[in-house]
Amino acid sequence: MKKFGKVVAVMMTAMMVLSGCGGASSGNTGATNGNDTTGNESGLPSKVVVGTNAEFPPFEYIAENGQPDGFDIALIKEVGQRAGFEVEVKNMDFDALIMAMETDGIDMAIAGMTATEDRKQQVDFSDPYFNASQVMIVKSDNDSIKTFQDLKGKKVAVQQGTTGDLMVTEGDESCVVEGVEVKRMNKGADAVLDLMNGGVDAVVIDANPAEQFVLANDGKIKIVTDEAVNEEYAIAIPKGETELKDAVNKALAEMKADGTMDKLAEQYDAN
Ligand code: ARG
Repeated sequence: MKKFGKVVAVMMTAMMVLSGCGGASSGNTGATNGNDTTGNESGLPSKVVVGTNAEFPPFEYIAENGQPDGFDIALIKEVGQRAGFEVEVKNMDFDALIMAMETDGIDMAIAGMTATEDRKQQVDFSDPYFNASQVMIVKSDNDSIKTFQDLKGKKVAVQQGTTGDLMVTEGDESCVVEGVEVKRMNKGADAVLDLMNGGVDAVVIDANPAEQFVLANDGKIKIVTDEAVNEEYAIAIPKGETELKDAVNKALAEMKADGTMDKLAEQYDAN
């Protein structure tokens, strides 16, 4: 895409040489979304707008100070530090993230997003940074739902546009059970609330957020795991942004190698 394209990169490098700046990303916070004139040695922008959906603890949630926090947020800030760009986090609906990348609203997305074949048609993904799976949440006294197949004929709430949604969506290639009445919510927490209120029989959601939701609702709901549906989280980057993707992958590899990734996982309870 144009903004991180070769010509711009060359121009930016030239400007950096002329103005004698390089390395640090600090100071230049005025420009957004690729309009920067300065950045780092590689010609990356000095600031990158990163979309997320802060409804997915422990990966992203709104902290007490009103700002997005979580494993993903800490991770992308560290990536930015290493790659030499400042990170601005933009919170939006999960199912709007990929579109926002196509319309230039954001420069990349980190949102516990599974790198699916379908999404790969629209965006590129970084190397994976987390192994995940899908589970069910049911009321604690429910003993009839043990496998995904048991969801047939049941009401199931999901977060709209997630892989959990697609697993119970008839006609989708990743559908594992048909005949489910699906309620699509804007937030995972709303799906869980509906379960608590008896509006649905189950919620299908990623395992780690499921654990957090169960913990927050002391004893009233429980997790049911079927044979693991394995997924990998990766950072979504617009197609063709090779330089940006390479820089992100380099930082991720470093963070995996030097223990930073494990440290963050421990800090945020993302295990
Ligand atoms: N891993 C699932 C997916 O990619 C769910 C991600 C939801 N993330 C969020 N921040 N709400 O569809």
